[in-house]
Amino acid sequence: MLIVRTYSALQKAMAMQQPYHVQTAFVPTMGALHDGHLQLVHAARQQAQLVVVSIFVNPTQFNDAADFVQYPVSIEQDIQLLEAVGTDIVYLPSVAEMYPLGTANLEHYPLGQLENVLEGKFRPGHFQGVCQVVSRLLQQVQPGLLVMGQKDYQQCMVVQAMIDYLQLPVHMLRVPTKREPDGLAMSSRNRRLSPAERVAAVAMYLALLQMATNARHLPIAELEAKAASQLLAAGFHKLDYISLVHADTLLPVSQPATEPMLAIAAAFLGAVRLIDNLPVAQP
Ligand code: PAF
Repeated sequence: MLIVRTYSALQKAMAMQQPYHVQTAFVPTMGALHDGHLQLVHAARQQAQLVVVSIFVNPTQFNDAADFVQYPVSIEQDIQLLEAVGTDIVYLPSVAEMYPLGTANLEHYPLGQLENVLEGKFRPGHFQGVCQVVSRLLQQVQPGLLVMGQKDYQQCMVVQAMIDYLQLPVHMLRVPTKREPDGLAMSSRNRRLSPAERVAAVAMYLALLQMATNARHLPIAELEAKAASQLLAAGFHKLDYISLVHADTLLPVSQPATEPMLAIAAAFLGAVRLIDNLPVAQP
């Protein structure tokens, strides 16, 4: 496994590893890796001869400065995990490497409605930051396949919109959310939960499951109200949203429908903001 820190070292490493222009799969991460990330690398490994993983905590996508400062970092452990799952190249750029002209006045992407709903509404600027970094990473790595996790469902939609806008020749593979044995979605932010909060955190999965299971036959408002009280009873506060939405637009669903739907939530447990989603099974 090669570890590179600059774009020019990345180019050299890719030229060495990829003399015959084989398929490259790319997994962008912010580190603090867990089994959910490793599952993305496994999926990449199955599809491509060359697997590149980046670790870069992107400052431009944190709308909350405290979240950026507290974002968990575990580079040594991350490198060992990536080596064990057969990564070919790990790219660890610095902020200056990614943004040589600084982070002020970066480009703005036309993301339409995606920026006004759910995460877009509660984390202003976040998706612009995601696009700014993922577009740079894609231009540097030039993969045929980009592998991303469904846990960040809206992020997958946003990145696809950016790819379409820039007409980048890359296909996105979305990998289903990896869960802990009790159902909690794996997330780097879970590390910041206290033991008691970790136990309580499963309530988000259970509330979404309750919504997703009943979405085709019970009144939506009733399901959403019940899910919100489940979260509050478990100790969550500041519920940003817990809703049923159309899976293709993320707009609210008002009555049981037959089209693809998603139960989706974001809420705070202590100081940690958790997100998760579950697709509603097809009728
Ligand atoms: O999902 C993440 O970890 C980040 O948003 C990503 C895609 C690596 C961009 O910084």
